[in-house]
Amino acid sequence: MRFQTILEPFRVRSVEPIRHTTREEREEALRGAHYNVFQLDARDVLIDLLTDSGTGAMSAAQWGAMMQSDESYAGARSFHRFRDVVAGITGLHHVLPTHQGRAAERILFTTVAGPGDVIPNNTHFDTTRANIEDRGATALDLPCEASRDPQALDPFKGNLDLVALERVLTEHAGRVPVAMITVTNNSGGGQPVSMENIRATRAICQRHGVPLFLDACRFAENAWFIKQREPGYADRTPREIAVEMFSYCDGATMSAKKDGLANIGGFLAVNDDALAQRCRNNLILTEGFVTYGGLAGYDLEAIATGLTEVLDEEYLRYRVRSIAYLAERLQAADVPLLLPPGGHALYLDARRMLPHVPWNEFPACALGAVLYVEGGIRAAEIGSLMFGRQPDGTERPAAHELLRLAFPRRVYTQSHVDYVAEVVAYVRSRASQVRGLRVMQQPPALRHFSAHLAPAHGALLLH
Ligand code: F0G
Repeated sequence: MRFQTILEPFRVRSVEPIRHTTREEREEALRGAHYNVFQLDARDVLIDLLTDSGTGAMSAAQWGAMMQSDESYAGARSFHRFRDVVAGITGLHHVLPTHQGRAAERILFTTVAGPGDVIPNNTHFDTTRANIEDRGATALDLPCEASRDPQALDPFKGNLDLVALERVLTEHAGRVPVAMITVTNNSGGGQPVSMENIRATRAICQRHGVPLFLDACRFAENAWFIKQREPGYADRTPREIAVEMFSYCDGATMSAKKDGLANIGGFLAVNDDALAQRCRNNLILTEGFVTYGGLAGYDLEAIATGLTEVLDEEYLRYRVRSIAYLAERLQAADVPLLLPPGGHALYLDARRMLPHVPWNEFPACALGAVLYVEGGIRAAEIGSLMFGRQPDGTERPAAHELLRLAFPRRVYTQSHVDYVAEVVAYVRSRASQVRGLRVMQQPPALRHFSAHLAPAHGALLLH
């Protein structure tokens, strides 16, 4: 190859302005948001890296398909197309559309889980954990050893700890309705799971008679990492790799807001006929009829097209490269990161960047607040505000204190990324002046979305 630049594999033909604000305006906005960036108005944000969920840009092909949707209540053509695309990738027989990923999780867990049950996963995402705990069951994280060290350059830090899984399935025999693997491991840094690990997990689950479910939100990014990093997969297409990943599973939950390249939607897919019927009964209660599940026909079309586009090699190469590029720039500025860079996000290691801020003053939240004040960038905490409070009300430090810079798909260009690098490097230079936050008010579950915070020591940033 003569040229090294990895281009955005698209040109822009519809634009949306973003708005600059002054530092004073942002300080004011953050105070009004109780120092919780989830409470900010999006119009006050310049570069929004809060999430890669539902924030992507759709293609002309997706908009075109949406115009031709079938909005029939039952048995719509758009459902058949959606079902065929999902079944073609996952190989799973029963496909239940849902309005997003957590609806699939709620339906699955209200159907299979109850008090006393245990559900292992490499790392549960917050909504998955909350839906399991809401059933009185226990959500167990079994991340692999390598994931504990943010600096370790292991290629598959998303892997599940197989020894721990074997132990859990033996200890809790009869009380594990399903086991899960999340690809990529979002709460663990957007890290991939190897095919070998999925295959071995499958073998253990089979031996214990436990069905294996994939939380498939970012299945295409995971497939790309397998292609790049796992021996034997370099010549396979992302689609072939994805098909193999799903072939080891009895079911999947999916938020199509990620690798569905859609703004809304998801699905639950299962092989077991009886389970599918029970889930459909549950789906109809809150989501809608079984052929639309809370979505418009045009949403089903957007997802069907998106699931095909997301497996394009040019797209995946650009996607993963954008994040690695930011990582390179930040490493050059001595910013502590969780490495290797994730598939959908780069995670700043707030524990190392702000060693003087204790875990119960939420270093990653404080870092996120300063990033907003200094540069109008919004990012999400994945740390002790998200995971510190236990079901019994006690507080415990999370495994990591991370600030996740999640990249919306096909939205920002390299100059946006350059700007982010500049702002983060500046904040790094002032890290010793950043002070922690404390909770003023919080709801009983998923507190990070709506908690009110305040500077724990008078000011967020010393001068
Ligand atoms: N599982 C994983 C691994 C996720 O990352 C998410 C959402 C869900 C399930 C739930 O899907 O939002 O469609 O209900 N993650 C978003 C994020 C919100 O910002 O990481 P949903």
